[in-house]
Amino acid sequence: MNQAAPKPHSLPVPEPDALEHSRRLTAHLADAIRDAGGWLPFDRFMELALYAPGLGYYAAGAAKFGRLAADGSDFVTAPELTPFFARTLARQVSEIFEQTGDAKVLEFGAGSGRLAADLLLALEAEGAPCERYSIMELSGELRARQRDTIARVAPHLLDRVSWLDQLPDAFHGVMLGNEVLDAMPVRLWARRAPANGQDGRPVWFERGVVCTPDGFAWEERRYDGALPEALAPLAALPPAQEYLTETHEAAAAFVRSVAPLLARGVLLLVDYGFPAREYYHPQRAQGTLMCHYRHHAHDDPFYYPGLQDITAHVEFSGIADAGVQAGLDLLGFTSQARFLMNAGIVELMSALDPSDPKTYLPAAAAAQKLLSEAEMGELFKVIAFGRGMDEWAGLIGFATGERSHAL
Ligand SMILES: C[S@@+](CC[C@H](N)C(=O)[O-])C[C@H]1O[C@@H](n2cnc3c(N)ncnc32)[C@H](O)[C@@H]1O
Repeated sequence: MNQAAPKPHSLPVPEPDALEHSRRLTAHLADAIRDAGGWLPFDRFMELALYAPGLGYYAAGAAKFGRLAADGSDFVTAPELTPFFARTLARQVSEIFEQTGDAKVLEFGAGSGRLAADLLLALEAEGAPCERYSIMELSGELRARQRDTIARVAPHLLDRVSWLDQLPDAFHGVMLGNEVLDAMPVRLWARRAPANGQDGRPVWFERGVVCTPDGFAWEERRYDGALPEALAPLAALPPAQEYLTETHEAAAAFVRSVAPLLARGVLLLVDYGFPAREYYHPQRAQGTLMCHYRHHAHDDPFYYPGLQDITAHVEFSGIADAGVQAGLDLLGFTSQARFLMNAGIVELMSALDPSDPKTYLPAAAAAQKLLSEAEMGELFKVIAFGRGMDEWAGLIGFATGERSHAL
C-alpha cells in the first residue's frame, strides 16, 4: 500500500515530521487490517487511529485543542473557548457538593486540563473548594499536558489533583466529561436498496476498512446478523431509501462501566448530539461521522491518520438507557444553552465591565458561541445521572427546559 499517497484535499499540508508520524500510524493500521484478514470494522480502525499507544491522535503529540489553526490545533471545545464555561459549571458542581457533602470531582478525558484548572479556581471562588480532583485520561501525553496547564493556571491547587490508572471501586461526588463520548469509536452501517432477488427488502452492510494500492478504502460487508436495537426504527423507511449511520457501543459500554462506581452523586456528560428520534431521522441519511484538521471539518477518516480527530455525534437515548439500565437515575437532559443559562452564565457575565472592550468583547463573543442556537447552544446537550439523590428536588442546570421526555 502506498502509505504516502497524496490526498485529494484542499486541506493544509502537514509538516514533514507530522507526515512521518502519520506514516508510522498508517503502517500500524495496515498491519491491523492484514492481521484481521484484510477487513477491519470501522470502530476498530477508529480506536487505533485515535488511541494506538504512542501513535494515535489522542495518544501522541498533536496540539489538538485550541482556538486557531495557526496554533497547530484542530478544534475548539467549550472550556478552551472561555473560562465562563467552567465558572458556570462550578455553580452546578458546588450545588451538588452541598447536597451530597462530598466535594470531589472525577473528570474523564480532561483534554488540555483547561476545564480542570478553571473549575478548581471557580469552585474556590464560589466558596466550595474541591477537596480532590481526579482525572481519568487514556492518553499519557495528555496527562502531562493537563499537569502543566493546572500548574500554570492554578498552581496552589495542583496538589489536589491526581491522575488515576484505574477507576476507584466507589466514588462520591461529581463525575464529569466534556466531549468525551463523541471521541469513542462507532460502528458504521449502510442500508442499501434491494437488488433483484431480495424480495424487495433492503440489505444492511457493516462498513469496514481495507488496504488498496492507493491507501485505505471503505468496504461494506453484508450483515445478516441481528442488527443493533438502535437501528430498529429505520425498518420503517421506504425499502429503496439508502442510509448511512453509526451505532455507539463503546459510548454505552463506557457509561455502563462507570455507573456502578458512582456510590452517591452525579454523572454529568456534555456533548454534541441528539435523542434517537432525531439521530435516526430519515433525512440524516449520511450519518454524523466527522473529522477535524486545523479547524477544517470534513468527512474523510483516511486523511493522514493520527493527525486529525475523528468523531461522531452522540445518540443520547442510548446513553440514557445505558445509565438507567446500570442502575442510575436520569436526573436531566437539556441543551447546553439552557443548562448554562439556568446555572447563571448571564449573571456571571454581567460582572464584566462593558466599558473595557479588550476584556469584554472576546468574553461576550465566546459566551455567544456557547449559547447561540446556530453554534453550540442547541447542538450540544447536557445529560445528568445520579445515585442516592432521591430527596433532592432538582439540579439548577435543568431548572427550566428539561427535556428527558424527548429521549
Ligand atoms: C474531544 S477530547 C475532549 C477533551 C476535553 N474534555 C475538552 O473538552 O477539551 C476527548 C477526550 O476524551 C478522552 N477519552 C476518550 N475515551 C476515553 C475514556 N474511555 N476514558 C477517559 N477518557 C477518554 C480523550 O483522550 C480526550 O482527552
